[in-house]
Amino acid sequence: MTEVPQKKIGVFDSGLGGLMIAKALRDAMPDYDYLYLGDTLHMPYGARSAEAIYSYCKAAMDYLFSQGCQIIVMACNTASALVLRRLQQEYLPTSQTADKRILGVVIPMLEYAQDQGFQNIGVIGTEGLIKSRIYAQELHKIDPAIQITEQATPLLVPLIEHGGEKWLEAIISDYVQEFEKAKIEALILGCTHYTLIYDAIAGLMPEVSLLSQDRIIPDKFGDYLKRHPAQEARLSRNGTMSFALTDVTDSFRQSAARLIGYNPDLDHVVLDT
Ligand code: DGL
Repeated sequence: MTEVPQKKIGVFDSGLGGLMIAKALRDAMPDYDYLYLGDTLHMPYGARSAEAIYSYCKAAMDYLFSQGCQIIVMACNTASALVLRRLQQEYLPTSQTADKRILGVVIPMLEYAQDQGFQNIGVIGTEGLIKSRIYAQELHKIDPAIQITEQATPLLVPLIEHGGEKWLEAIISDYVQEFEKAKIEALILGCTHYTLIYDAIAGLMPEVSLLSQDRIIPDKFGDYLKRHPAQEARLSRNGTMSFALTDVTDSFRQSAARLIGYNPDLDHVVLDT
């Protein structure tokens, strides 16, 4: 009997935060097959050059497609900002990947903010993401009347990665001052890691609606599949989920078990960067 090739949904991130997006996608659409890849060897991406991130991401896409992914959700905001377009324009049109897709998270988040009718929003993210100005640029294509205030919050990823929760309140309070002045109605958590500190941010900004990717991307991805039935029809449906990392550490193992509720098998992969 010939084996039917798997056509999985790949979820790519630099590290831990992408697990939350993969888990949220699977919780919302449990029939499909998922493969999460975290580039933990090269994380954090936040202060790296676009050139370095492109070479990591291209190798990561090669790996995910070689493992049978049909569509890849580029969960990492920093990579979505700095290299997604180049991957779509230069990398995807090659013959091995021409029928495949790589989808980012920036535009779906902005569409959601617009659908909700917010007129004054904020974004937090890594230094690379905020310097790229991608949220402001894409928002102005969708609706130039919506105001946007952007703030880099580079200390948050290291604090989350190293268990520094006790300093979060002081640091977040300092970072959000611009948003208080701007009187934003909603704040986009523009980094997968921030899904993990949702409650801490919500506690400090109770009057602001927090737009968190684990709560928004699954519905937006579901909409994408409805609008692209030929892509959807290609996806395999065995309800599996697997995990791969470019560096497997005990601390990731422990955090992953806590976040997804069981001890996952973590495959170690070496990317050809
Ligand atoms: N996951 C990345 C993002 O969403 C941030 C973490 C990093 O700096 O690697 O932007």
